[in-house]
Amino acid sequence: MEVVNGVENEKKGTQAKNHLTPEEVDRILLENGELEQFDELMMYYDSAMVEVRTKLEVLNKEMTLKQRRNPFEYIKSRLKKSTSIYEKLVARDIPFTVENIEKNLNDIAGVRVICAFIDDIYGIRDALARQDDVEILQEKDYIASPKANGYRSLHIILRVPIYMSQEKKLMNVEVQFRTIAMDFWASVEHKMKYKKVIKNAESISEELKYSADMINQLDRRMLQIRDRIAESDEEILEEKQTQTPRTPIMPLRHPYSSD
Ligand code: GTP
Ligand code: MG
Repeated sequence: MEVVNGVENEKKGTQAKNHLTPEEVDRILLENGELEQFDELMMYYDSAMVEVRTKLEVLNKEMTLKQRRNPFEYIKSRLKKSTSIYEKLVARDIPFTVENIEKNLNDIAGVRVICAFIDDIYGIRDALARQDDVEILQEKDYIASPKANGYRSLHIILRVPIYMSQEKKLMNVEVQFRTIAMDFWASVEHKMKYKKVIKNAESISEELKYSADMINQLDRRMLQIRDRIAESDEEILEEKQTQTPRTPIMPLRHPYSSD
């Protein structure tokens, strides 16, 4: 019988069973005397995720006010499931312990930021990097260097502090930045990636790669269109300012009227 994570693996065969149910993972943690510690760690990651979301939402408010447009469309976040954490460690031959989770995995807390335009991605990344309590531990720029399959996104691992009643903890959070178009592509590609059997896989992959290139072109064209609209706005404003200013006619209104 094989010993996995200090617990006898009762499943038949010599291989560690990679796919466990949440209850089975809980049982391993319980038997290792780490269930409470695990729950505590997950609470830390959850709190770190909330911190990062709040930071992003604050930036959104400020940029929306100053630039009159929102730098991102929406944020998604997720905490990695205990079963996926277990599977990831087992796949890497790392014993499933609370210490190893914290030491080896950076994507327990994951935040995805979906922007309309590519330059906003870097704008938000830079704004986060300037914050005193944010440290960027790692950056993978799959926009500048896309993956062979066509995948584009900017991935960063942030370290942020969270304040508990008795202590401060520094937690890692993975943030993925994508444009709406990149996200659309990734969600379609994801469907194919996780299928065990797929017909015409090669031609689908080729089509995906081709679509990824088109999406890249589209993202860049949208940026140009946005800039042209902004230029036109500025020109109109300049023209208005050079005209003789008119005295505004104030409408007569009751001082306490609500409209
Ligand atoms: P894993 O986290 O184990 O995947 O390895 P990693 O952290 O070295 O990988 P990376 O930073 O490149 O990617 C992490 C995450 O990005 C994945 O979990 C996916 O959410 C996303 N991702 C990366 N590559 C692809 C891809 O080719 N297609 C799609 N749809 N998503 C991807
Ligand atoms: Mg990852």
